[in-house]
Amino acid sequence: MANVIVIGAQWGDEGKGKITDLLSRSADVVVRSQGGVNAGHTVVVRGQTFKLHLIPSGILYPNTECIIGSGTVIDPQVLIEEIDQLKALGVSVDNLYISQTAHVTMPYHRQIDRASEESRGEYKIGTTGRGIGPTYADKSERTGIRILDLMNPKHLHKQLKWTIDYKNAILEKLYNLPPLDSERIIKEYLVYAERLRSHVVDSSLKIYQAVQEKKNILFEGAQGTLLDLDHGTYPYVTSSNPIAGGACVGAGVGPTTIDRVIGVAKAYTTRVGEGPFPTELNGNIGNLLCDRGAEFGTTTGRRRRCGWFDAVIGRYAVRINGLDCLAITKLDVLDELEEIKVCVAYKIDGVICNHFPTNASAFANCEPVYKILPGWRQSTTECRSLDDLPKEALRYLQFLAEIMKVPIAIVSVGASRDQTIIVEDPIHGPKRALLDANGIPVDMF
Ligand code: IMP
Ligand code: MG
Repeated sequence: MANVIVIGAQWGDEGKGKITDLLSRSADVVVRSQGGVNAGHTVVVRGQTFKLHLIPSGILYPNTECIIGSGTVIDPQVLIEEIDQLKALGVSVDNLYISQTAHVTMPYHRQIDRASEESRGEYKIGTTGRGIGPTYADKSERTGIRILDLMNPKHLHKQLKWTIDYKNAILEKLYNLPPLDSERIIKEYLVYAERLRSHVVDSSLKIYQAVQEKKNILFEGAQGTLLDLDHGTYPYVTSSNPIAGGACVGAGVGPTTIDRVIGVAKAYTTRVGEGPFPTELNGNIGNLLCDRGAEFGTTTGRRRRCGWFDAVIGRYAVRINGLDCLAITKLDVLDELEEIKVCVAYKIDGVICNHFPTNASAFANCEPVYKILPGWRQSTTECRSLDDLPKEALRYLQFLAEIMKVPIAIVSVGASRDQTIIVEDPIHGPKRALLDANGIPVDMF
């Protein structure tokens, strides 16, 4: 048995949905710890596509309990739509649990998110416009509405009356927008409350009980390392902590509960929204990656910016999250390329830098140093073991593992569950045993 965190090792959209879906097979409980409906996970099962924003992908397994933890922010309208979509497709949501201390996204959060982005001009972040930042801001400011509040009509009434007056002042005076009608919002949200009531629990306690019962728990990350509020590319980040440590905080478990941390990274890099991106490709190759990888946001439909794999970011993700191993996704997207570049270091003011720079302007102005590897120019989508891979593809993976000093446990070569190469069992396989004294992966392939 093991308790495992799966996190994004880049800027989100690494394909965590597919990996957590695969690992959910052996999980009794799947927990979302942070983020909200800014996240979008696409999972393809038996040709059916599921787009999930808040509900953990474990919901597709009938016996897996799914918990939306207290570090998340919940837009009840979207959550209910998601529940209804799953039900319509014949998926039961009886095993869905919602933390009573999670914060609730309100209409004014969405409005303020969009209005503030507009007013930022060249300083805009490129948010998903889902009200995530303002919901977390209210949480920190201690003016947030929690699921608990939603479940108590009298309390909600009292709390919202004051809050909506306050938010209306901001909407009207700062952004020149019409005020919101508090009675209408209260009425709307009380309907949501009744739809969600039977799912609401003390989630930290529920997870603790699962730990005591020695169940397998999977902590499913949303977004990615570089979108982390504290350790990402601030200010172009999300407002929560998608790194491994954030999973403990958001779920309400101690770090000693965690046995393994698995990072997910694409075989190249993508980013949505604003902010520096050293290996970004603007020409034909960028378009090819975007088209072959279907790189359009699950939540906003925005075209994702595409670029080469950045191993400086990879090493940073290994460090910040304490990664035990990596899952590399979308290897097949590179199938047609003649040669493939990997960023191995940055040049900052003429000086080679192997570490991710925490100084935002150094990062914005760095120049990637590339290692060029030969492409394989054949399809990998039917490969089911490392032996099936063209030797250049194997070499590419080996190079990534070596340069980031982390074993690769899973390789994904397509969207469906079976298009997967399991190199080693990411949960029960040897923990870091594949590294030699110099930290170089050995006997991996
Ligand atoms: P917010 O989370 O909507 O506030 O957006 C902040 C930044 O995080 C923007 O650059 C978004 O594009 C990015 N972002 C938020 N959620 C995701 C995600 O699930 N995948 C990729 N990028 C995301
Ligand atoms: Mg996504």
